[in-house]
Amino acid sequence: MLNIIPRPNSEEIYGGDLTFDGGVAVSACDEARPAEQMVRNMLSKFCPTIRFSDSGKVAIKFEKDALLPKESYRIDADGDKLIMTASGMPGWTYALVSLRQMLRTDRDDKTMYASCPCCHIDDSPRFAYRGVMLDEARHFFGETEVKRLLDLMCLYKLNVLHWHLSDDQGYRVESDVFPLLTTVASRRNDTQVGGKRSDKFTGIASSGYYTKKQIRHIVEYARERNIEIVPELDMPSHCTAILAAYPDLSCHGEKTDVSTTFGNTERSVCPGKDSTYDFAAKLVDEWCELFPSPLFHIGADEPAEQEWKTCSDCREAVVRNGLGDIKELLPLFVNRVADLLRERGKTPVIWSEKLLRGVRKHAIFEVFDHIDPKALATEVSQGRRVIVATADRYYASRPYCMTPLKKTYCYEPTSVLGSPGSDAGVIGAEMLLWSEWVYDRLKLDFNLFPRMCAMAESAWTDRARKSLSDFRKRWDAHKALMDSIGVAYAGDKLTDPGIFTRKKSEYIWKNVDQYDEVRRNNL
Ligand code: ACM
Ligand code: ZN
Repeated sequence: MLNIIPRPNSEEIYGGDLTFDGGVAVSACDEARPAEQMVRNMLSKFCPTIRFSDSGKVAIKFEKDALLPKESYRIDADGDKLIMTASGMPGWTYALVSLRQMLRTDRDDKTMYASCPCCHIDDSPRFAYRGVMLDEARHFFGETEVKRLLDLMCLYKLNVLHWHLSDDQGYRVESDVFPLLTTVASRRNDTQVGGKRSDKFTGIASSGYYTKKQIRHIVEYARERNIEIVPELDMPSHCTAILAAYPDLSCHGEKTDVSTTFGNTERSVCPGKDSTYDFAAKLVDEWCELFPSPLFHIGADEPAEQEWKTCSDCREAVVRNGLGDIKELLPLFVNRVADLLRERGKTPVIWSEKLLRGVRKHAIFEVFDHIDPKALATEVSQGRRVIVATADRYYASRPYCMTPLKKTYCYEPTSVLGSPGSDAGVIGAEMLLWSEWVYDRLKLDFNLFPRMCAMAESAWTDRARKSLSDFRKRWDAHKALMDSIGVAYAGDKLTDPGIFTRKKSEYIWKNVDQYDEVRRNNL
């Protein structure tokens, strides 16, 4: 077993180690120059006594095989050479990530040296989309934390950051087109703490947004790590922060504040007014300049239909469009925004807690609740593409007593289409970190690790090669790496039900408690 997460799809272990002790000669084709630099940096940092010289007794080579798929790579390590083969930087990056995970240091009397097992790896991902969603509307983490998360995602071969940048509690993107989004929608006066039913507040205002310059920088930082950033502008509901800045966008135009509590506010932009779509088109244009990804997430979850019922514009839109019911304003809204995205060359992604009928066929469904698998399979057979984000398996915001490691690891993503599912139509899977009760790095780490690694294995590794006991052993070996990076992962006795189960019902509503208890008691 090689200590690599996600487990490679083909590996052979020869026995013995390749040892980097004397000089190391590194060579690369032109396209792999950045990888050459990366391996030098990585080895020097890992083992400062390593020297690089063309006459070194160990050779590291980056070779190109144009026939390999974009993210595939091969590693050949024997007694005196290490060859990493790929068709471009994504593959070489992943070869380096696997190497990083296999490296060990040791020392004899005089020197410290690094080694990796002699092996052959031939590896390719199962799914093209391997995502993490970060919610920065509820809590704003900022550039340093996002870049750190991107580094950690790359380490586990995750390639999409789904960036939730707008919700009831905050709007996080600098805007020149709608300046009040920057000055009003990015600030809130207070913040609820202690869970949905709590009446405690921090008592302090908070604010935060990314400048356009920062976003461009982060997008480039992600690209260098083979990560695409898919931004999310959640509409027509979950947008109280936008309404605090521009109340005329709502059905009734009443003034509102950016939300300070975390339940659903049931507020919405009006799907019946043309001015809503003019606003959406201008904002989408502003975002398209920042985010080159071909995917654009437009939310569309938990529609606030109550407001629509009492709105004359909404009711007229129902009649004008020959809709049977006010609820059909949601697919109408999604389709209008999908069309303006299509004009800009973008494919929409929408949340799917139930099967939304009549939505443009090219829109991708991000399925987070249990939808009837047969109905979803029929949709897929007609060309629908799906991202699996099943809440009770992949919501890393949930405490471990609700979603233990095993429940995340053992989940088969295609089961959303029935069992046994085929991969067709499922483009990938995503781990989601909603941040109502996640407010700092420590808790982010605690909630994501090791569950993010477990999900990464389901997204990368063929299902026949997965094994929980094997994963646990590799995760054990990874703890040293996590410690060296400073990741505050959840310990083994916390990742499975046990000491916390007794309070499960409380945790469902007070997600923060388990973590508080852990930190308070040094568990
Ligand atoms: C969601 O959990 N409302 C996507
Ligand atoms: Zn309305």
